[in-house]
Amino acid sequence: MEGLSLRSRRIGWPMAAVVLTAAVLLVMLPQVSSIRYIVGSNMGGWAPNVNFTIWAQDKHFYNGDWLYFVYDRNQMNVLEVNKTDFDSCNSDHPLQNWTTGAGRDVVPLNITKTYYFISGKGFCYGGVKVAIHVENLPPPPASLPQKSDSPSLLLSTFRGQVFIPTLFAAAALWDAFILRL
Ligand SMILES: *[C@@H]1O[C@H](CO)[C@@H](O)[C@H](O)[C@H]1NC(C)=O
Ligand SMILES: *[C@@H]1O[C@H](CO)[C@@H](O)[C@H](O)[C@H]1NC(C)=O
Ligand SMILES: *[C@@H]1O[C@H](CO)[C@@H](O)[C@H](O)[C@H]1NC(C)=O
Ligand SMILES: *[C@@H]1O[C@H](CO)[C@@H](O)[C@H](O)[C@H]1NC(C)=O
Repeated sequence: MEGLSLRSRRIGWPMAAVVLTAAVLLVMLPQVSSIRYIVGSNMGGWAPNVNFTIWAQDKHFYNGDWLYFVYDRNQMNVLEVNKTDFDSCNSDHPLQNWTTGAGRDVVPLNITKTYYFISGKGFCYGGVKVAIHVENLPPPPASLPQKSDSPSLLLSTFRGQVFIPTLFAAAALWDAFILRL
């Protein structure tokens, strides 16, 4: 106990910084769990003249995430099709019609596969189409307790762990650094 208090006095502010960072990350965790992506966000939404390949290319979609299509309900719609119909912009036999009529459609990505979405009414030909490759979450590290019994819990546990070990590593580094002074 004596050693511990001596140590915490010597590493005063870095430890406080680490604790603060940990607190901030913990607060952020619920938002990191299932991610809801606005399709074409910052580019105009589900609309013509948006390159959805570019929009999707830097993102990792995991089973449990969501897509949110925001668009002009008088023009576009949201149809899930197979790859053949995606490539040819054929909207005659969608696998699923996600259009609700409000111009605000939510699609759960709850299957690990590549989803293909197009807008009918001719807009697919203008580029209103997106392929979304949904991956399984990598298994969480075995050393950490698996308290998850639902996909979203698993997700938040896993994505939280991306940050937490880094945090511990940073704390250990600070310790090593300060104690060597
Ligand atoms: C979107 O961007 C990609 C990568 O730059 C390009 O290969 C593709 O042709 C573009 N698609 C459209 C419809 O402009
Ligand atoms: C997509 O659906 C069409 C029509 O139902 C079918 O002809 C085609 O073979 C399907 N393509 C794939 C990749 O499943
Ligand atoms: C999709 O569903 C919407 C709302 O129910 C409906 O108005 C529309 O006609 C459907 N579109 C297709 C292509 O099935
Ligand atoms: C995925 O979500 C849809 C819509 O909520 C639901 O109908 C379907 O059963 C779900 N599929 C799986 C594999 O959970």
